[in-house]
Amino acid sequence: MKVEKQKILILDFGGQYTQLIARRVRENNVYSEVVPWSISAQEIAAHRPTGIILSGGPSSVCDPDAPHCDPAVYTQGVPVLGICYGMQLTCQMLGGQVERASEREYGRVTVRMTDRTGLLEGMKPESSCWMSHTWQCSVCPDGFHAIAQTDNCAIAAMACAERQIYGVQFHPEVTHTEEGRQLIHNFLYNICHCDGSWTMAAFAETAIGQIRDAVGEDGTVLLALSGGVDSSVAAALIYRAIGKRLTCVFVDHGLLRMGESEQVCHVFSQLFPVRFVRADAAERFFRDLKGVSEPEEKRHIIGRDFIEVFRDEAARLGKMDYFAQGTIYPDVIESGQGTNAAVIKSHHNVGGLPKELGFTELIEPLRMLFKDEVRALGETLGLPRELVWRQPFPGPGLAIRVIGEVTPEKVQIVRESDAIFREEIAKAGLEGKVNQYFTVLTGVHSVGVMGDERTYDYTIALRAVTTDDFMTADWARLPYDLISVVSARIVNEVAHASRVVLDVTTKPPASIEWE
Ligand code: XMP
Repeated sequence: MKVEKQKILILDFGGQYTQLIARRVRENNVYSEVVPWSISAQEIAAHRPTGIILSGGPSSVCDPDAPHCDPAVYTQGVPVLGICYGMQLTCQMLGGQVERASEREYGRVTVRMTDRTGLLEGMKPESSCWMSHTWQCSVCPDGFHAIAQTDNCAIAAMACAERQIYGVQFHPEVTHTEEGRQLIHNFLYNICHCDGSWTMAAFAETAIGQIRDAVGEDGTVLLALSGGVDSSVAAALIYRAIGKRLTCVFVDHGLLRMGESEQVCHVFSQLFPVRFVRADAAERFFRDLKGVSEPEEKRHIIGRDFIEVFRDEAARLGKMDYFAQGTIYPDVIESGQGTNAAVIKSHHNVGGLPKELGFTELIEPLRMLFKDEVRALGETLGLPRELVWRQPFPGPGLAIRVIGEVTPEKVQIVRESDAIFREEIAKAGLEGKVNQYFTVLTGVHSVGVMGDERTYDYTIALRAVTTDDFMTADWARLPYDLISVVSARIVNEVAHASRVVLDVTTKPPASIEWE
């Protein structure tokens, strides 16, 4: 396992905000890793953490089956911050008392900070904090004292400065906690004395060295390039490490946005003169999608065709030693592999690709990075901003934005209308403010009139959302004038589009994509 110079270890007790804790720490230029709560004292020591954070979680510490960390967490001389469940656990394991709160606190609560030194330094006497708890500490462990309270909770935060162990009942990691960032900053810098040296430039340097070591003097790497941010950044990083021994295969399924295929080819031939293979497979995808309108079946066919095209190309290219892909940290955490910090792994299998291709050696240089970090790394490596900060685009491409059967003509309609929508959003300077926006070719025909002719053509839906994490989303309140221009341009410029409607649904209950 590679040991970062300074690392905050986050023990995951199953809380919904654990990933956010890791992100908040890294936003402070301090590396963090999420590990399962059950990690042993020896494993913790091997990480050589600068500090430990215990996450929230759904259990009650009073439950006999409640998860308990190794007691050595509190005796290694490493600062500890328990959040919500993590605080209650600390309280209980160190001899304090936890009991059911007289009133469950949920949502924004005013917290009075009664000892504004150390952890709470620089915070206001009263601050709005996000709470979500049924249980709470009623008696602090020996050596601890309360440093914050609410109307219903006398110990909303506790501290033992001598042992450098702290607990907060509220969630500093969520943005609803007004001064949460300050609190996390205080823990990292006042208590753990971090040096803030985690930067993308430092990460790139280390990762490049690791890739070089793993691949050796003359090893070769094959990378499946989707044109998305993650695989593009992975390609840039591996190129820096091994140069022309990297081969990228880009499968163009004919379901990309306007100009996208050209952009990917251009960037890679200009900036990274690697062996770049573009497999033009549009015909095959359209052939196999013919007559299929069920969304899951479409996805399945696209996934299968992708593997087949890739396999054919890989076979033509001859033997390669390693297979590389752009897996990122949220996928790793969600698949429960949080402790596996190695950049290089064997026998790993995502989406069937490495196994199908007979690879046992896998390189995943981004597997410890969050999306925003991947983007920042891309910029550090010299990828163009417009490629790096692009909105997400689903693997099955425009096929899932054509409702019902997919044909080249329908894809062209959605592609042209999408290009207009993107262009107008950019003109209005809203690219950074709306997180995802696209058009959908609804299966609905509607009657119209153009010139003196009756028309009976397609209805296009505009979908634009604001979201932090794409798990929940709100529909974007776009200016009416902008919607008006987009609508007019689509019906005037895109053949067979005769009506434009706006999708005003949140997620949940709707998903962001229509299929
Ligand atoms: P939904 O539609 O589930 O989408 O609310 C959430 C986010 O995921 C993207 N998405 C996909 N990305 N392959 C992908 O790589 C897919 O099959 C896929 N389906 C949805 C979607 O664009 C949104 O950003």
